[in-house]
Amino acid sequence: MSSNKLQFRVQPGGSLSGRLRVPGDKSISHRSIMLGSLADGVTHVSGFLEGEDSLATLRVFQAMGVKIDGPSDGEVTINGVGVDGLKAPTAPLDLGNSGTAMRLMCGLLAGQGFDTTLVGDSSLTKRPMRRVTDPLAAMNAVIDTSEGGTAPLHIRPTTTLCGIDYTMPVASAQVKSCVLLAGLYAEGETCVTEPAPTRDHTERMLQGFGYPVTRNGNRVCIRGGGRLRACDIDVPADISSAAFFLVGASIATGSDLLLEHVGMNPTRDGVINILRLMGAVIGVLDPRDVRGEPVADLHVRSAPLKGIRIPEDQVPLAIDEFPVLFVAAACAEGETVLTGAEELRVKESDRIQVMADGLQVLGVDARPTADGIVIQGGAIGSGRVDSHGDHRIAMAFTIAGLRAGGEIVIEDCENVNTSFPRFVELASGVGSRVSLTGD
Ligand code: S3P
Repeated sequence: MSSNKLQFRVQPGGSLSGRLRVPGDKSISHRSIMLGSLADGVTHVSGFLEGEDSLATLRVFQAMGVKIDGPSDGEVTINGVGVDGLKAPTAPLDLGNSGTAMRLMCGLLAGQGFDTTLVGDSSLTKRPMRRVTDPLAAMNAVIDTSEGGTAPLHIRPTTTLCGIDYTMPVASAQVKSCVLLAGLYAEGETCVTEPAPTRDHTERMLQGFGYPVTRNGNRVCIRGGGRLRACDIDVPADISSAAFFLVGASIATGSDLLLEHVGMNPTRDGVINILRLMGAVIGVLDPRDVRGEPVADLHVRSAPLKGIRIPEDQVPLAIDEFPVLFVAAACAEGETVLTGAEELRVKESDRIQVMADGLQVLGVDARPTADGIVIQGGAIGSGRVDSHGDHRIAMAFTIAGLRAGGEIVIEDCENVNTSFPRFVELASGVGSRVSLTGD
């Protein structure tokens, strides 16, 4: 276990109250830079996530000649260069820790007339990329990966991409979005069929930029060769970041918290559905539409939770929220069973194993399975857990502190900045007893 990296120290107990707006949605922030850069005209973004992942995307477009001002207080101005206006970068494009950026960029760059190399950090370099390079190869893209199908990815120029009718083997919004972005540059129609609904921000935002998208059940299609028209984007607060506080306020007795302006896209709201099945009390206030994305304020109060069998149809709709949902399960009465979630093993860390290991350190009966986990609710103890550099694991164990019997020390927390800058400050502002140490 590392000792010289950033640690969180969480003193036990506390409750969460007050109001809080968590940072902007990561998925929407990435896409705002990508589509804004490819649009004709000037796109203004507000509520942009100033986290390392979306900043990596912003920098790679600057490296390809796009003039982008900001972010400053979540405001970004993108001077779009048009679908054919990107310039060859002079160095490899570094996407840091971001799987979303790498997979979406792979599709977008497959149709350019220049070479690019995509690199990332040690976690990203282990993540599977054939899930995107295989369908892109079927569209005539030429992309080299390492022998194991991982980054660095070397994307070579091709004369023309051809449209594809692709049925995805896994329910992945990243794969769907990658193929659709390549489809902007392909001849004819590109269609993707998904085995289960996944987040649809790419489709919604393409339409917001005036690009026609057709959806028929679980099949979505676009036709190449069109143009994008600049527009304004208001990025809602990220439900995946709000999730830590939904769980925290549910498990910490005496909590009463309002989460403001949270993105409530129905392809993302699994965490609310699952927590409600467990007995959580979450009110959805003032539901509204903000430039094509549903938004609401969420009012959550503490409530006794019970263990459940998590419905498999909720898994893609809550895919990033499982680390903290496992903490909810540890605080619930009875057993919680998750199945159908093997994708969790290929996220920023193996989230099934890493969460099971950490929960066991804290004395929780958590048994990993091939595609999920079985957790018996009970007492949370104290101890030192390793986040393995995974932002959501670090934040999940911070929330566990609200119900712990003693101090929890969490190792390797730098990457919390990828999705949730100022997490420690905002969490302690509403009652978490977390602090930062450098060791
Ligand atoms: C994302 C899709 C999800 C999610 C990731 C963001 C996106 O990945 O885990 O954090 O923005 O498209 P998969 O689609 O691969 O499950």
